[in-house]
Amino acid sequence: MKTFKQKIAVITGAGTGMGRELARQLAAEGCHLAICDVLDDNLAETKRLCDDTAAAGTLVTMHVCDVSDESQVLSYCEAVKQQHHTDHINLLFNNAGIGGGDSFLLSERKEWERTFAVDWFGVYYCSRAFMPLLLASSDGHIVNTSSVNGFWACLGPNVSHTAYSTAKFAVKGFSESLLVDLRLNAPHVKVSLVMPGHVGTNIGPNTMKIHGSPIPADLDREQLVPYRRWLENQGHAAENISDAELRAMIQQYMDDFMNNAPLTAVQAATIILDGVRANRWRILVGNDAHALDRAIRDDPEAAYDLPFLERLPDFGLSG
Ligand SMILES: NC(=O)c1ccc[n+]([C@@H]2O[C@H](COP(=O)([O-])OP(=O)(O)OC[C@H]3O[C@@H](n4cnc5c(N)ncnc54)[C@H](O)[C@@H]3O)[C@@H](O)[C@H]2O)c1
Repeated sequence: MKTFKQKIAVITGAGTGMGRELARQLAAEGCHLAICDVLDDNLAETKRLCDDTAAAGTLVTMHVCDVSDESQVLSYCEAVKQQHHTDHINLLFNNAGIGGGDSFLLSERKEWERTFAVDWFGVYYCSRAFMPLLLASSDGHIVNTSSVNGFWACLGPNVSHTAYSTAKFAVKGFSESLLVDLRLNAPHVKVSLVMPGHVGTNIGPNTMKIHGSPIPADLDREQLVPYRRWLENQGHAAENISDAELRAMIQQYMDDFMNNAPLTAVQAATIILDGVRANRWRILVGNDAHALDRAIRDDPEAAYDLPFLERLPDFGLSG
């Protein structure tokens, strides 16, 4: 797909971050958009930003939808057909995602399954629902956002990362298996797999909100338990840290994730769209993602050994 002008794109998780920036860049090129998110205020702000900069005649519709709920996804799909007066779409960006469910052993099962449901079933339900519309186009492209955690199930030596990694590996496997399936059965539809490294976004606060957690300043003692465990795993004497100090540390961690990243969401969205234009099926986002990919391909057996994990700063990852 050489140009996005006059195409129709569906973007999930467009309320903030990379989804919002994909929407803004596509709207500026004159691509019609049907954006969704589960957080309605953020979604409304994205629509406003898109409307401000969209090329003349560009239609931007917004749809509040939880992608982990198939009935909501089917309603979203019906609304897109009606509001865009269309029987097809050209682009599906399966971008929505959250963290959480870090430890298979210690995290609450409900949180683990919610993370997996958003990060895997969100991609699956949207692909099922919108595939007929992609097939009905003359030029279709499905863009699935996985992560470096789609080829490396880890964040560093001191933290478990199980639900997210499991889902992102599933997104990678699904996307790669579609390459041959689409070539055989629908060669006019392409697929890209997006694997970002660290991108500065609000995924931390959004994740807390979507899991129903209060903001860091309002976490009670019970809710701080997993964060204390995380500190202890990092080698800190967590018993010497007050609840107030711990709340401030969590907020600082999320602020640093947003503000001290090697790549902004704007830059990441540009890399993703350039990759789609060039019909690249494998889109690594950021120098950290490229470096990690190379290191793991060089020595896959070592990928979870401590000496490897201690080299994370060499890849531009803080761990
Ligand atoms: N930021 C990073 O460093 C990074 C790295 C690798 C992969 N990713 C992936 O990139 C994608 C975009 O994340 P981001 O970093 O821009 O974070 P973000 O939080 O800014 O964007 C994700 C969006 O998805 C929405 N969302 C969450 N659950 C949803 C649901 N059930 N239904 C609909 N919308 C939902 C959120 O409200 C949010 O607007 C995610 O899939 C994430 O896992 C991010």
